[in-house]
Order: sequence, then C-alpha cells, then structure tokens
Amino acid sequence: MDKFVVRGGNPLLGTIRVSGAKNSALPCMAAAILTEEEVVLENVPQVQDIETERKLLESMGAEVELGYGRAQHRTSIKCAVLSDPVAKYEIVKTMRASSLVLGPLVARTGMARVAMPGGCAIGGRPIDLHIKGLESMGAKITQEHGYLEARADRLKGAHIVFDKITVTGTEDLLMAAALADGESLFENCAREPEVTDLAALLNAMGASIEGAGTSTIKIKGVAKLHGARHRINPDRIEAGTFLTAGAITGGDLNVECCNPAQMGSLLGKLQESGVKLEIGTDNVRVHSGGKLTAVDVSTEEYPGFPTDMQAQFMALLTQCEGTSVVTENIFENRFMHVSELNRMGAHISVSGRSATIRGGAKLQSAAVMCSDLRASASLVLAALVADGESILDRVYHMDRGYERIEEKLRGVGAQIRRMGDVFGKK
Ligand code: UD1
Repeated sequence: MDKFVVRGGNPLLGTIRVSGAKNSALPCMAAAILTEEEVVLENVPQVQDIETERKLLESMGAEVELGYGRAQHRTSIKCAVLSDPVAKYEIVKTMRASSLVLGPLVARTGMARVAMPGGCAIGGRPIDLHIKGLESMGAKITQEHGYLEARADRLKGAHIVFDKITVTGTEDLLMAAALADGESLFENCAREPEVTDLAALLNAMGASIEGAGTSTIKIKGVAKLHGARHRINPDRIEAGTFLTAGAITGGDLNVECCNPAQMGSLLGKLQESGVKLEIGTDNVRVHSGGKLTAVDVSTEEYPGFPTDMQAQFMALLTQCEGTSVVTENIFENRFMHVSELNRMGAHISVSGRSATIRGGAKLQSAAVMCSDLRASASLVLAALVADGESILDRVYHMDRGYERIEEKLRGVGAQIRRMGDVFGKK
C-alpha cells in the first residue's frame, strides 16, 4: 500500500493546474452506454475511479481507449455491443458511482444487473431514489445476493419529485429519461455543475434536455442517441483543495484552468477567513501570510458549501484564530479526518453533525491514516504545515480522485513523496 511522506513548512509558490472533474467524467463515461456510436471525452482526469469505470465498461463489452502523450486526457468509448450488461462486484466494490450505469443500461438494453455500490465510507449512502425513479419509469427491480436487477422493455417518461437532492440519482435518471418513451419532468433535482456537464453531453448526443443546473429538468425522450465529443469541466473540488493548500501554507499560488464561477461559496468562505484572492475567469490566485480568523461553515447542496471541501477546509480552520463550527448536512459520517487531525495536534471536538475547531494550534507531524478521498486531502494539507515529517498511510483513497497530486504539489514547492507503487497492491 502506498504512503505519502510529507515534510511541512514550505509555502506553496507558483502555478498549479487543475484537471478535469472526476465527478463529471464518471457520469459522462456512463452516458456512452446510451449509444452504439463513439463518444469522445476530453479533459478526463487520470485517477483510479476513471480506471475502474473503464474496466467496468470493458467488462460489459465496450471498447474504451485512453489517449497517450498529448492526448493523454482523451477517452473514447464505443458501446457498439453490450454483451454483458452486468456491473460486477469485483469491479465496482470500491466505487459508489457504479450506480450511474443502472439507468443507462436498462434504457439501452432493457436489463441491468448492478452490484450494490461501495465507495467512500462516509455514511449509509443508499440508492433508494435511483430505484424509486426507475420504477416510476416502468422498470421492474429486484434485489438479491448484493445485486440489483432492473428490467424494462422500454422505459416510459415520468414525473419524478426527488424526496431528497441527490447528485448521481439525478444523473442516473436523466440518462434513463433521455432514451425513454415520452416526456419526463424531474423536480427537486441536484443543481451541481456536474449535472449540467452531463446534460450538455447528452444534448450533444441528440437528447432533448432543458433546465439542467436548476431544480426542475424537462426531458423529451428520443428513440436513439448518437456519438459526440465533449470536454469535461474543470474539477472544482481539486481547485478548492489547491486554494486551501495555498492559504494554509501562507503561500502565493495561482490555481489555473479552473472555473471560479462554480466555486462561489468556497471562495467566499476563504475571503471571510482573511485569505486574499484574485479571482479571474479561469484562474484564482491565493496569497496569504497574514492572520486568518475563524469562520463557521455548513455544507449544503450546490451552490452551497460543498461537502467534498469540508475536510480540507477544516484543516485550514485549525490554523485560524478563534473557534469555528463546521456543520455537515449531507452525509452523516463524514468526520473521520477529525481524530487524525487531533493526533497532529488540532483541537477539534465533534457532537452529532457539528465539529467545533479551536484554531491556532501548532500542528505536529505524525503517522496518520487516510479514511476516505477528501479526508486524505485534509491530512495532506495539515501535513504541509506540520512541524516535521508526516507519513500518510492508505493514499489509495486519494488516488481515486486526485491526479498525481504529489507531483503537482511538488511542482509548487511542497516536500511530498510517494513510497510504494502508484497503483500497486491496495
Ligand atoms: C455525489 C458525489 C460526491 C459528493 C456528493 C454530494 C459523484 C460521483 N459523487 O455523490 O463526491 O460528496 O454527490 O455532493 O458525483 N441519498 C439517499 N438516497 C439515494 C441517493 C442519495 O438517501 O438514493 C442521500 C445520501 O445518503 C446523502 C444525500 O442523499 O445523504 C446526497 O447524496 P448524493 O447527492 O446522492 O451523493 P452521491 O451522488 O453519491
């Protein structure tokens, strides 16, 4: 299992480039299931979750080509024949986003068998809303031996009001409705930029979708979709992680190839804590060094503060003067980084969905354990300011969603190196 060795104390200086969003690329790859023709995606990040999805699509009979050299972030997918519409447990056990193939598979082939998803250990993470939605579109769903099986000759358009806002649930049903018979109206949809990105691809494939990015989406089902070429959005969470890294180290960092318009709540909270930002159209420069002050944060659905930035922002709050309260409203078990941050000298206590951070602690290096994707990022940030050399175990969590993060951070002055194989034994 790979580890990161991080020596703290260096301010991050220079320019760092953001990759494409994993959470956009995953549904866009699943959308290729909906057509026999080739779908070409640009700006796909090279992370483990994408590799898992490639294996998943190939195991169903798809041809997936990853570009090399200058085209290394291009992925082309052709699902001419889907001989085996099954998402096998051995492939999907590490990735919750596997539920994203459920809707497109049943819409295209009339049948799907999908292993119940794994992924980050951040709470129960049910997929009842995907199931309920597909049922209202006419699918018959059964569940046995850890697999869901969905069948429908042809899905029918439906009026679906989501009981709760769900990102992949909205995406899954959007793909199903694109090929369904008749019109669908979805209410209380997720408004995340990743939903908008997927809808743009689907429309380029011949779908008729209106309202993506708002809570009400109208879809006119079509009989067939065709191939398309699409560029994946920049990763707003990776960009946010780098900005927070620049801030916590008191550096001067230009985060480029990002979309600040999709990062309003995070940028606002950074500024509220005293971090200086220069916000461009596709870059943000962070320069800090002055005193930072405590701020309270509550995670919300987009455009609120993203739950995927909560852990990293908490690392920053350990360095702010005063007491901050972080409330996690999306997932019920997303404070696993707290015990590790406390082992590094932070003063954080948790009560229910809230964590209270007494800031200004001098962090010390330690051997710590990564527990999920974003928790890992928060430990890297803490280690970048800790006194001495920290060792982070289980960085495979990080490899699921951050592309070559150690190389990118080293490029702007961080002392971080990997021990072990990149995608070796997990
Ligand atoms: C997506 C993101 C993840 C992010 C999360 C919230 C991807 C691949 N992952 O995850 O990085 O942290 O959005 O922004 O895009 N829920 C139900 N029933 C369902 C589905 C969800 O109760 O059928 C609940 C969940 O338990 C959670 C909440 O709804 O409490 C939001 O989950 P959801 O938006 O579905 O998260 P994901 O799409 O899995």
